[in-house]
Order: sequence, then structure tokens, then C-alpha cells
Amino acid sequence: MSDNIFRALVVEEGGGGRSVELRDVRVADLPPGEVLVRVAYSTLNYKDGLAVTGKGKVLRVNPMAPGIDFAGTVVESAAPAFKPGDEVVLTGWGVGERHWGGFSQMNRVKAEWLVPLPEGISLKQAMAVGTAGFTAMLCVQALERHGLGPTEREVVVTGAAGGVGSMAVAMLARAGYRVVAATGRPAEAEYLRGLGAADVIDRAFFTGPGRPLESERWAAAVDTVGGAVLGGIFRSVAYHGVVAACGNAGGVEFTASVFPFILRGVRLIGVESVLVPPAERLAAWARIARDLPTELIDRMTEVIPLGAVPAYSETITNAQVRGRIVIDVNA
Ligand SMILES: NC(=O)c1ccc[n+]([C@@H]2O[C@H](COP(=O)([O-])OP(=O)(O)OC[C@H]3O[C@@H](n4cnc5c(N)ncnc54)[C@H](OP(=O)(O)O)[C@@H]3O)[C@@H](O)[C@H]2O)c1
Repeated sequence: MSDNIFRALVVEEGGGGRSVELRDVRVADLPPGEVLVRVAYSTLNYKDGLAVTGKGKVLRVNPMAPGIDFAGTVVESAAPAFKPGDEVVLTGWGVGERHWGGFSQMNRVKAEWLVPLPEGISLKQAMAVGTAGFTAMLCVQALERHGLGPTEREVVVTGAAGGVGSMAVAMLARAGYRVVAATGRPAEAEYLRGLGAADVIDRAFFTGPGRPLESERWAAAVDTVGGAVLGGIFRSVAYHGVVAACGNAGGVEFTASVFPFILRGVRLIGVESVLVPPAERLAAWARIARDLPTELIDRMTEVIPLGAVPAYSETITNAQVRGRIVIDVNA
């Protein structure tokens, strides 16, 4: 990489075809913004898998570098909040969708989109957390804001072996909750117990036939799957329990009876991570850095080079990735 030319994974559509390839790009061709960042790491999220494979309409600019998050070092800044050499993290804000993404050795963005690298974690660990861990923490905070506190009851996490799921299992267990991991991959049971799950159940628990109200079991739930799994969760949520829904890896529509809501006061909270205001971002990252041991972050992480992203994008959209994939954009 020279100062003016760098490498990016670029998706281009046109002429009836679609290309995904590593290309040399000029700094001058980056979009406008106050801060120029030399990217060290990005990550592969489910949404990135959809963007790279074209299985979902994620990219709104053509040609485009996908990648909804990155961590790196400031090279130039026209904003007083950052100076060259500062280490920064970015998740969301439409980066990798409407704005040039993180699968790129350089990027230029608005200063308000950046968060200083939280103390105690490296750039690589910040991306191992990435959008997935940030979203998982937003779910934990949403559950606690809506009444989840110390309880004997269990908290269930669906899509548990995925990125958001793995992070949510680890964070809830560290916060002292008895966590049940729901997965379609029973072979990952030991991995999930290693992250702190007290029990592991098959995701079919939620999609099988059942009555509108089953025995109360869950104090709360983090659902990363959506669809029929989310629809099935409410039946066994305890009185005044709360469900944080953040994902759609298993479907976008769900059916549920009203009984859990009107007879048990169950609440459904939606969680989004893209447009979260800066103060809430800082609070979520501070808690992640404080509460999540770096050893656990490392345990759920695999590092790949930028060139491996197309193949791994197929893998993640087929629900075969375990934990978090960090992308070393300079490898
Ligand atoms: N709201 C937000 O701002 C936000 C932010 C980040 C992510 N998300 C969403 O959260 C979800 C998870 O993201 P991620 O990056 O963690 O993805 P991921 O690593 O691919 O994890 C998704 C997990 O969901 C389960 N799953 C996948 N397909 C399924 C199916 N057809 N039926 C049932 N379960 C299925 C699998 O877990 P098991 O193998 O353990 O069953 C899979 O590992 C995605 O829908 C993503 O778009 C939303």
C-alpha cells in the first residue's frame, strides 16, 4: 500500500453481471468526510455475507466496498475530536451499505461516526467484538432497562453459535445470568458451554408444535434469528419477561398468539445498532471493555485475509460460521 493507492474488496454490478474482486483504489476516490483512517481490521457479519454474495440487497452504491465495521488508526483529521495516530472503531451508520465500507485498507468518514478504541482492548479484539458484540451489548442493556435483574430463571439466546449469539451468551453469563444457548448445531455445545452457557438446547424447541402458553421458563431472551424461532419464544417467557429481537437470520415474519403479551405482560423490544447515538455507543463499548474478558473474545474469533472474504461470505450465509470472523485487511 502506498499513501495514495490502497487495496479494497470491491463489488460491482453492471452489464448483466456481478464482480467481487480485490482492486487498487486511490485515496482521492474515497467519499468525503472529516477523518481519514488506515484500517487494520474489519469483520464478517451476516449482513456483509448478504452484501458480498448478493443474497440480500445491502449495497446502495455501485461499485462499492462492503464491510459494516472497521478499526484502525487516524491518518488525517479535520475534526478536533481526533488527531493522527488515534485508534478508532466504527460500526454502523450505513458504512458498507451507503458509504464505502470496511473491506478496504483506507476509509474516510464523518468524525461523529467514530468511537475511540476502548481502553484495554486491541484493534483486533475491537473487531472481534465488532457490530455483533456491540449489538449483543445493546440487547443486554435493553433487557436490563426493561426489568431484567438478578433472577433464578434462565435467559435464552437463539442463534447462539453465531456472532451476535456467541457474544450475547458470553456477556449474559459474565453478568451473572443463567444462560441457555439455543442452536441448530448441537456439535457446538462444548464451545457454547466454554463461553458460559449453563445449558444448550436445540432450536427446534421453539419451532415445534405447542400451546399458546407453555410453562414459564425464560426471564428474558435475546433473539438473533427471527421468524418461527422468535414466534415460538413468547410461549415460555415468564411473567413480565422481556425479549430483545435483533436478527432475521432465520426469517423475517413470525406468528405468535397475543396471550403471552396480555396474560403475562411479556414485552418485545426491538434492537438496532446502526443509528445508535454517540453517547449510548460510548456507554456500550465501555461496558464491553470492562466486562468481557479478552480471553473470551479471542476464544470465539478466527482471523482471515481480505481475499478469503468471498468464500467465507458463502459460509456465513449458510449458517456455518462459528463465533466471529475478523478480517485482517492488510494480509
Ligand atoms: N439489529 C441490528 O442492528 C443487528 C446487528 C447485527 C446483527 N443483526 C442481525 O443478527 C443476526 C445475526 O447476525 P450475525 O452476524 O451474528 O450472524 P451469524 O454469525 O450468521 O449468526 C446467525 C446464527 O443464526 C442461526 N441461524 C442461521 N440461519 C438460521 C435459520 N434458517 N433458522 C434458524 N437459525 C438460523 C445460526 O445459529 P445456530 O447455528 O447457533 O443455530 C447462525 O449461526 C442477523 O440476522 C443479523 O442481520 C442485527
